[in-house]
Formats: sequence, C-alpha cells, structure tokens
Amino acid sequence: MNRDLTDIELSMVCEVIASRMGLHFPVERWAMLRRNLVLAAREFGFHDMDRFIQWLLSASLNREQMEILAAHLTISETYFWREPQVFEALTNFILPELIRSKDKEIEERSDKIPRSGKGVKSIRIWSAGCSTGEEPYSIAIALHKTIPEIGDWNITIMATDINPRAISKAMNGTYGAWSFRNSPAWLKSNYFLHKEDRQYEIIPEIKKMVTFTCLSLAEMSAISNANIMDIIFCRNVLMYFTPDWISKIANSFFQELAEDGWFVVSSCELSFQVFPQFTAVNFPGAVLYRKGKNGSVHSLSAEATPMVDFNTSTFQPVQPVQPVQPVQLPSNPFNPARTNDVIQSGGPSTLFNPLQSSSTLQQPQTIPEETSANKIFSVRLLADQGHLEEALSTCNGAIACYKLSPGLYFLRASILQELGKSSEAIVSLKQAIYIDPEYIMGHFTLGNLFIRQGNTRNAKRYFKNVLDLLSRYANDDILPESEGLSVKYIREIILSNMQTQLTK
Ligand SMILES: C[S@@+](CC[C@H](N)C(=O)[O-])C[C@H]1O[C@@H](n2cnc3c(N)ncnc32)[C@H](O)[C@@H]1O
Repeated sequence: MNRDLTDIELSMVCEVIASRMGLHFPVERWAMLRRNLVLAAREFGFHDMDRFIQWLLSASLNREQMEILAAHLTISETYFWREPQVFEALTNFILPELIRSKDKEIEERSDKIPRSGKGVKSIRIWSAGCSTGEEPYSIAIALHKTIPEIGDWNITIMATDINPRAISKAMNGTYGAWSFRNSPAWLKSNYFLHKEDRQYEIIPEIKKMVTFTCLSLAEMSAISNANIMDIIFCRNVLMYFTPDWISKIANSFFQELAEDGWFVVSSCELSFQVFPQFTAVNFPGAVLYRKGKNGSVHSLSAEATPMVDFNTSTFQPVQPVQPVQPVQLPSNPFNPARTNDVIQSGGPSTLFNPLQSSSTLQQPQTIPEETSANKIFSVRLLADQGHLEEALSTCNGAIACYKLSPGLYFLRASILQELGKSSEAIVSLKQAIYIDPEYIMGHFTLGNLFIRQGNTRNAKRYFKNVLDLLSRYANDDILPESEGLSVKYIREIILSNMQTQLTK
C-alpha cells in the first residue's frame, strides 16, 4: 500500500483531476499529493495502490466520491477576520455605499413598494470556498456591526464549499482558539459563547444569517447567472485551479454579480491572477475587484476615474498587476504566517504583493525551498486539523533543522497557546525575539499573553517594544508574519489595551 507513486502515474492522475475537478497540482506540490492520495485510497477502501490508481484513472466518479477526493486534495486553512483590511474596506466603504444605494433604490420605487416592512431591502453575499465557516460568519459579523436596524433587511449570505466535512463543521458553528488567531478580541467576546474545553460557539443571531451548501466551483452551471449577488468572496480558493478554470470561474462570478457588485480574492492571489472583466479598486491595505456599470468591461487603467465617491482619495482603480520576480532570502527558510496558502498555489513563487505601497514593510520573498515549505505546511495542516500534539512535534523537528528561524518559534508558540501551554508559548516567543530582536509579531504576542496572565508590567514592556519598533513605519504599512495586519491596526490595539487594561 505504501509504495510511492511514480512520476508518470502522478502526472496522469493530475491530468484526470484537472479535467474532472479543475484542480491544479504543479510539480512542487507532488510530495503532498502523493501523501494525500495514499490517505484517499484508504478511505475509498483500497489496500493496493496499483488498483486505486487504475480505478481513479478509469472510473467516472459520482458526486460523493468526488467530494471525498476533494476533501483529501484541498486545504481547509481559514480563520476569523482573515486579512482584516478586507473587512475594514467592507465595513468602512463597501457596506455603507451599498446601504445608501439600496436606500436610494427603495426611495425611487417608494410609490410602488411600501417603505415599512421587513425584507424590502436586500443584500446578497456569497462566500465561495467557505471552508469551515470562519469567512462567512466573519462577513455576517461585519454586516451585523455595520447595518443599523439590520432587522429591516433581507440578508442572504450563501456559503459553499466542495468539502462536505468542512461544511458540516461550519454548520455546527463551534470553534477552537486556533480559528481566532489574528482576529480582534471583540469578535470572540461579542459574537461567541464560551463552551467547555476552550471551544466557542457562534451566537444564534449570526449563525442564522448564513446558509451553507456543498458545491463544487467546477460545477458552476448549477448556479443561476442571475446578476443578483452584491459581493462574492472567493479567497484562497482559485489558487487550486488551472488557469483555464480560473478564467471560467471568474466569468461565472461576473455573471452572478449585480451591476457594481464586488469580487474579493485574497491578497496573495492578486499577485498572480488578473481578472480582466473587473476593475481593481484600491482600499487602505486591500485591493478588491468591481463589476463595471452596465456590465461593461473596464480596462485597468490608472487614468480611470473612481466609480463612486466615498469622500476618500484612497478609493480608486489601480494599475494592472505586474508579475514580479522572486528574490531569494536564504536565511529564513520558513515564513509560517504567509506560506501556508501560497505554497499550494500554482502561481509565481513569490510572497511579494505588488499592490502594496512602496512604503510597505514587506520585503519581496521567495517561497522557501520545497522540503522546508513542506514541513511548515505540514505543521499548519496538522494544527488546522486539530492534531496539535503531532503539529507540535513536527514543528520541534523543523526547529531542530532550522534553528535560526524566528517564524518557526512563533508558529510553535501559536500551537502551544492552542494547547493551553501559555508558559511554554512565552518561552518559544522569547526565543523568536532572541534570534530577531526586531520580530514585531513576537513582541506583540508576548504583550497579549502577559495581559491574559495579568502580568501588566511585562505586557507594557513588550507593547512598548512594539510601539518603538513601529515608530519607523507608516500607518498603512503591513506587518510581515501578521497575515495582513497594518501598523495602524496594531498600534490601535495596543493603545486601547493600554487605556483599558494596563492603566495600573
Ligand atoms: C484555503 S480554504 C479558504 C477558506 C476561506 N475562503 C479563506 O480564505 O479563509 C480553501 C477552500 O476552498 C475549497 N475548494 C477547493 N476547491 C474547490 C472547488 N472546486 N469547489 C469549491 N470549493 C473548493 C476547499 O475545500 C477549502 O475549503
């Protein structure tokens, strides 16, 4: 059973997977594909790899079999409020404009439609590739936070994914602390009920806003093309697809969106994918795509005028994305906070986001060499699947090989925190900042951990270090290793902690 698949076999399997499911496995991901096919073979009941491969190449898989295979071949990595700048753009700009435009629409039709009464004004959002639900629930929370008198609105948040196991966890709505890494503290305290065993359940008011369905994006014909969606999120999903499929899917999203609707991908996808149907629009720290008025295709030109006025100079179409050349950074073989999704992508092997301002903190970085990337990837995968002890021991093994990588110590600290081992997490974080005294996320996390322990003296010390280190940077700069947190955002959190919890 455990024999390794040959390259010929793998290339044939890849072709079948690409044509049937649209999923793309470049050679760099074959090591992972090999391992996952062994697990899939077991689940399908094959004890002999030869027979499994023969079956896979010849059988036409039914929906259930396709879902099982997809669950093994895709990654469900996600967490709440991922890429906070996107949610800031949503709550500060997009939703207020949407609310104004829907109000205006209703006013214009007020002679025909009664103004009072539930369900008159509607907002429709689709989270495509929603994984275990952290993204659509974050969207629901953003709506709940932003829309006054939300009860007057008819809100639809449709959340879909190919993986039935992810959907069932999403419908359950209960999460461990790992799902809240990098999310603001208010999100957990305001919108979740604390259960036993460090589990948190989404409150019913938010839960009922989201409808989950199992759906493969390779079967887009099942969707209506009805031009009704106001916003479509499809983040960290298209990276799995072949270029042909990406453009097919993007076209379907375009059809599905209402005039002026928004299409949201992740910042790492922006760097390797251009969606020519849409206009790219720049927000502080984020770029989102918009469908043009009357369905027309806008060119991504710098001269194009902003389509809407948000009384802000930052809201404007941006230049087309130019591919960038990776630059080797041999001293840091791991970069856990950013590698997980990018490594899986079939796009250019770079973590550089060309859409960030020139003042950004982030340096162009190449994807680390394959073996290192696989290790860090495995650690994250294990942690995401809840195998925390195994993740910890794999991470320890990786640290033994790469002793000077602060990011690895940071990752270990996250796992230790999840395991409730705060003191050990603190030691690991101190090791990270011993190796790199300017490792801002290390200082920041230490500050947060000390607050939780009630050690205000140490918390203040580490937060002060963060503020000192941040003083060299501009507010809109993005912190490396932080999954897109801006300098301004970190500063605000620290200042608010200083005012509320560290006054003594
Ligand atoms: C990395 S997760 C992204 C989750 C979330 N969108 C986010 O950004 O946090 C990718 C998700 O895409 C889903 N996916 C992959 N291929 C898919 C397909 N063909 N159809 C629908 N979902 C797919 C996977 O099952 C997985 O849950």
